[in-house]
Amino acid sequence: MSARPAASRRTVLKGAALTPVAGLGLSACGGGGDDRAAPLSGPVELGPESEVAEGGAKLYRDHNVVVSRSGDGTLKAYDTLCTHAGCPINKLDGTRLICPCHGSEFDVTTGKVLREPAVAPLKPLAVEVKNGTLVARPQA
Ligand code: FES
Repeated sequence: MSARPAASRRTVLKGAALTPVAGLGLSACGGGGDDRAAPLSGPVELGPESEVAEGGAKLYRDHNVVVSRSGDGTLKAYDTLCTHAGCPINKLDGTRLICPCHGSEFDVTTGKVLREPAVAPLKPLAVEVKNGTLVARPQA
């Protein structure tokens, strides 16, 4: 019985070493269905309001939220799960959001589709500033 625990430990360690690799594979794919990111379910603090310049935008990948600010200072926020097949969108070029899965593009000042295959606009979120911090939440 003294030799068996060592073999078991090796088996466990081998399994643990493989698990993150399998997890990364699923995350990198992004379009499989079960591994999709969930939409925002409640309020979330994004960061300092000053991070979003007038006429610019900032992508908060960890929360799947993008915030833009118009020239007059108006803030808008959108869910960044692609409306085509649900991929988390991870690239922002100016105010253009680009989906890595099939190349759809969205205008983050309006949520509108700039390039198919997506046809539905981004889902709008509510956004406000609390004590200098941007807070996004699902729209009521
Ligand atoms: Fe974004 Fe297909 S999931 S373009």
